[in-house]
Amino acid sequence: MNVLLTKLEHRWMSFTLRQARMTAAAKAQASTLPPEPVIPSKKPFKVELVGGKRYSWCTCGHSKKQPFCDGAHKTKAQGLSPLRFVPEKDATAWLCGCKHTNSPPYCDGTHKQDFIVSAPLHQHSDS
Ligand code: FES
Repeated sequence: MNVLLTKLEHRWMSFTLRQARMTAAAKAQASTLPPEPVIPSKKPFKVELVGGKRYSWCTCGHSKKQPFCDGAHKTKAQGLSPLRFVPEKDATAWLCGCKHTNSPPYCDGTHKQDFIVSAPLHQHSDS
């Protein structure tokens, strides 16, 4: 009987330790993932781009100068950084406002998908 209890106790202890390790590993992995962007607009921004000029498109959604970066990611979305790009020539462009396009920085119509349509729109706080 004592041997049986010992084996059961050993299995229970092993299971408990394994669960604790898995939880710790999942927490560690989750803390290293970059944050998800917020959605400042569910429509693209029409902009006049100047050829040869360097732009920084906001990827986190926290910028108050949409669709461009104002540095907000440094405090509100650490792990995300702006996408820098230089258009070859002057052009009118539609830059993504929902921050979920698959061809950044340009709108690809992703904002029409249900997960964006039903998502909350980000509201800037004063802080
Ligand atoms: S605004 Fe993001 S894909 Fe159109």
